[in-house]
Amino acid sequence: MSYDADVLVVGSGIAGLTFALKVARERKVLIITKKERAASNTNFARGGLAAGMGPDDDPELHLRDTLIAGAGLCREEVVDLVVREGPERVRELIDWGVRFHREGGDLSLGMEGGHSRRRIVHAGDRTGREIERALLSAVEAAADIQVEEHLLAVDLLVGDGPGSAPVCQGVVALDHREGRKVSLRAPITFLATGGCGQVYCHTTNPAIATGDGIAMAYRAGARVANLEFIQFHPTALYPTEDPAFLLSEALRGEGAVLRRTDGTAFMEDHDPRGSLAPRDVVARAVHRELQATGGSHIVLDISAIPRATLRTRFPGTYEGCAARGIDPYAEGIPVVPAAHYICGGVVTDSLARTTVDGLYAVGEVASTGLHGANRLASNSLLEAVVFSHRAARSVLAGDPGLETGASASASDPSVADAGDAEGDGMGDGTTAREEAHRITAVRSRLRALMWRRVGIVRSDEDLERAAAELEPLLAKEEARWAVSRWSVEAVELRNLLQTAVLIVESARRRKESRGLHFNVDHPVTSDDIPAEDTVVSV
Ligand code: SIN
Repeated sequence: MSYDADVLVVGSGIAGLTFALKVARERKVLIITKKERAASNTNFARGGLAAGMGPDDDPELHLRDTLIAGAGLCREEVVDLVVREGPERVRELIDWGVRFHREGGDLSLGMEGGHSRRRIVHAGDRTGREIERALLSAVEAAADIQVEEHLLAVDLLVGDGPGSAPVCQGVVALDHREGRKVSLRAPITFLATGGCGQVYCHTTNPAIATGDGIAMAYRAGARVANLEFIQFHPTALYPTEDPAFLLSEALRGEGAVLRRTDGTAFMEDHDPRGSLAPRDVVARAVHRELQATGGSHIVLDISAIPRATLRTRFPGTYEGCAARGIDPYAEGIPVVPAAHYICGGVVTDSLARTTVDGLYAVGEVASTGLHGANRLASNSLLEAVVFSHRAARSVLAGDPGLETGASASASDPSVADAGDAEGDGMGDGTTAREEAHRITAVRSRLRALMWRRVGIVRSDEDLERAAAELEPLLAKEEARWAVSRWSVEAVELRNLLQTAVLIVESARRRKESRGLHFNVDHPVTSDDIPAEDTVVSV
């Protein structure tokens, strides 16, 4: 297997693919992805892209709504550039073949919580799947983009740049089909690894969302920020699956209402915007209702949406309910909150550059300043396309990245067996099967712990206890890591633990409640202006 590229893209969701398509005009691109190319977070996105394209809308209104949701932590200049550049990026997606829904020739615009206008460009409730389909076929048709599946980036390769500043030189990866370590060197590395919902036992994120990018960037010395802001989506199907089946917020945009199991609506008791209040408000209200009643779930009443509309506008919901034997019109849909999105991530500037030279980050893995303390619904796919475009501009304008003197390559000396242990053993006398059991047990423990102690409502004591349990687990895992055979499961567990520790550390540092972070011991939002980011680095 040999590679020859100028730019290494880690991840094959909307951020990685749009960036690749743009730079491939002038650079050779290698995309690596840890599973199959379509196994991305993007594929799971139901809602759509928020873009102020309606006749009654303008970027100013979108900016205002984003700032309100972000609870004082958005970077206004970033919000401004995203809402202004967004519509052009949506037109580009259409040019790449994405079939967004239309009404009478115009784009159909959906409504979601926190938006003052209809502005969600969508493909029913399968928007991510449609975007991924179109972009993958554009990538297949493009010259100079090589896609390699089943290559899991394990760590960034970091060298010394001028003045000993760290520079990214590519990644060391695990080719898990061949069981080999591979060093992939490149002047530019583009992290598009998505989020980390798998740190929680109830999540809408797929199994691949294990915080790989955040953990790798942190270990490499990049700055990460605002990881305490975990968005819990209020309407995941109950009982939750892994991943949880998501009932799009757009259903509420079309009139669905949250009710207690006795049929009474309750959101108006919590917020005048009712079922369409921003997600942090709704998730906390649902949490309170469940605490107060001791109930296991609430109900999404979709009776205001005609059956024919459900079938055409929300085919994923319609078919998903049918497949599970649920008639949504009989008793409504049982729902609970589930972890959905991390608003913080690897700190980037307006060109998507991280604090490590040669390393870019775009999409859920990044912290651009757009979301602040709470992401406005459907702003994330938009953020991904805007910053991929900006990163491509920066690379094509001549960011040389690190001059390695060579293009991305996997040369023989850098290819090694995935571990030093013999046969099936793990190097410490444990069998591979015992190791697999151990990893599964730790992963489950971590996910349950995060849900229990670092969930929608937090306390100082819960956060202290989470830290006291997680930090030794991470230390043990790092010690094992140094001597054991690499496997996908071991890499992911290490990243999940690292990301969880960083989330807890960030949550402990924030001595206030703001946006998605609510701590009963500090229930008030501090009125410090400007509000502060929680920045962590090694
Ligand atoms: C949804 O459709 O409710 C999810 C959209 C998003 O997360 O922005």
